[in-house]
Formats: sequence, structure tokens, C-alpha cells
Amino acid sequence: MENQKKVMLSGIKPTGDLTLGSYLGAIKNWAERAEQYDCYYFMADLHAITVRNDPATLRRRTLEQLAQYIACGLNPEKNTLFIQSHVHQHAELGWVLNCYAMFGELSRMTQFKDKSAKNADNINGGLFTYPCLMAADILLYQPDVVPVGDDQKQHVELARNIVQRFNGVYGDVFKMPEPYVPKVGARIMNLVDPKSKMSKSDDLDTGRVLVMDDPAVIMKQFKRAITDSDTEKCVRYDPENKPGVANLMQIYASVTGKSFEEIEKEFDGLGYGAFKPAVGEAVVECLRPIREETRRLLDDKGYLEGVYRAGAEKASYVANKTLRKVYKKVGFLSQ
Ligand code: TYM
Repeated sequence: MENQKKVMLSGIKPTGDLTLGSYLGAIKNWAERAEQYDCYYFMADLHAITVRNDPATLRRRTLEQLAQYIACGLNPEKNTLFIQSHVHQHAELGWVLNCYAMFGELSRMTQFKDKSAKNADNINGGLFTYPCLMAADILLYQPDVVPVGDDQKQHVELARNIVQRFNGVYGDVFKMPEPYVPKVGARIMNLVDPKSKMSKSDDLDTGRVLVMDDPAVIMKQFKRAITDSDTEKCVRYDPENKPGVANLMQIYASVTGKSFEEIEKEFDGLGYGAFKPAVGEAVVECLRPIREETRRLLDDKGYLEGVYRAGAEKASYVANKTLRKVYKKVGFLSQ
């Protein structure tokens, strides 16, 4: 009998070491849903080459990301974990969907504008058409839900536009995916610049926390976190006027499961001096088992290879069904 579970899919680019932002905005929510959904998670290495990488570093990060997925609670027996470039259907459907996305809508993608500003010497075609590949990543698996952080929501919306356009011409080929953006943790900001997103490409010294950072480094980052220059010095959720404190509250709420009211009560009268190290300690304790398990898994390369091979096999089977249907619809002669 066909699997009746709803399908969920997401991915992360191995362009940098995994940050606390990607963990709280994405993976944490994936792991919580493994029982309810049929889940596909991948390392988006095809996406990674829109910026220049050292090849050996990209390989290391791809494998490390797989170990981190597992260490974060994605059991390979229950989730399909694979490397995007191992499933050739992604690139193939990506090309087809390029022809169903409009220049104007691709030009409006915020990430394209940001990334072109940051990589002015390498504004390549891949950077521009990247959302079409991302739409292919999604649509190949006919998912119901695509859990992403806030910054990727626009790309999922574009995938939805493509579904509407494509299905409008050829009938019900793709299922309409819904983005799922968590209420807390969808946009973790840089600790010293709470107006910018915490990103893999930030430097170590600029308020970024990595999943693999040592506890002492994490504590240092939180102690140096920018709070706000208001006079009341109290822990209160006010993203407009107190973005630094609001960001720390998001992080604390996300790792402890406490509500903003509970956090305000807990630190009532204590000020930022007590709050910052408390957030640091909560993050250290949340990441400790993940870091340790990642290291342990990385010592067992044979196991990780077995996981990504089995994952690619399962993913290819599903992806191929969709790709064949698409090829037939657009008029390619079958082999
Ligand atoms: P990427 O690799 O930039 O980020 C991976 C996931 O982490 C989320 N995220 C954050 N969430 C909260 N706060 C932050 N500071 C933060 N930084 C990152 C992102 O929103 C994302 O969910 N194009 C995608 C990868 C991708 C993909 C897909 C995702 C490729 N194909 C298909 C979903 C479905 C990307 O570059 O994410």
C-alpha cells in the first residue's frame, strides 16, 4: 500500500558551517515532525556553487552537514537523507522550470539582490536562476509542507507560482506546497548587529554562533551580544525598540520552549548582565549533544556513506516518477 503520510521536504546549502540560525530556524523543526510526515532532507550542494568554494571544504561540509542532520535527531531510518547532486533529477527538472519562471519574478528575489551586492565580481547565471532549482528540489517530491526560515519563504512562494503556471497548462502535475515558517526562531539575528540575519558567511568575530563551536566560544559570543541602549535595562519583548534583546529572547524561547512572558518574569529586576549568560548557557546545553554526536558520527565515514547512498536511492525513485511525468507533459519523446 502507498504511504499515506503527508510529505515534508527541506534542504540546507553546505556553503558554510551550520549556524545556530539554521538550527533554530530549520532543522529543529524538522526533527520534531519526523513521526507525522514522510520526510526528505538534503544537502543542497548544487546550490552551493553559486558562490566560489574550495572543493575539499565543500566535500567536508557536505558530509559534516549530514552528520549534523542525524545528530539533530533526523533518524535515517525514518527520514530520507541525501546529497542533492546524487539525484540527477534535480538538475534536470531545474532546467525545465527555468523555462516556466519569468525574468521579472526572478529579478525581484531579495536573496538575489543581496547576494549580487555581496558578490559583485561573480554575479553568475546560477545565482539568478537558483530559485528555479529550489522549486525543482521541492516539486520533485510532491511535498505538502516545506519548513524554512523567514528568508527562504519568498523562494517557496515562487515555487508556488510555478506550480500554478505549470499546472494551468498541463493539468495536475505538481502538488501545491505550503511553506512552514516557525513562530519563534524563524529569523535569528546576528548577535552584534541585530538588524542583520545571522549567516553562514559572517566572520567568527561578528556575532555568529556555529553548531560546532566550543562552549567557551559560545559563551563569549553571548556575553558580547549587543543589548540595547534604552534606559530601562529590562528584559522585555519589543523587536521594534529593543531588537538585540528581542533576538536573545527568540533564541532563549526557542531552545527552552519558554514563552516571552515566562522569560520576562524569570529575569524581572535582573537586567541584561544576568540574561546574556543565561541565554549562552541554554544554547551551550542545547548544542552540546549535537556537537558530540556529530563528532562521533564523523569518525564513522562508512556509516555516513551508507546513509547517503540509501537516501539517494530512495529519493531518486520518487524524483524520477515526477520527472517522467513532466517530460511527457512538455512533449519529450520517451526513451
Ligand atoms: P540556507 O542554506 O541559506 O539556510 C538553510 C535553512 O536555514 C534557515 N536559516 C535561518 N533561520 C532562522 N534564522 C537565521 N538566521 C537563518 N539562517 C538560515 C533558512 O531559512 C533555511 O530554511 N535555498 C535554501 C536551501 C534549499 C532549500 C531547497 C530549502 C535548497 N533547496 C528546497 C527548502 C526547500 C538555502 O539557501 O537555505
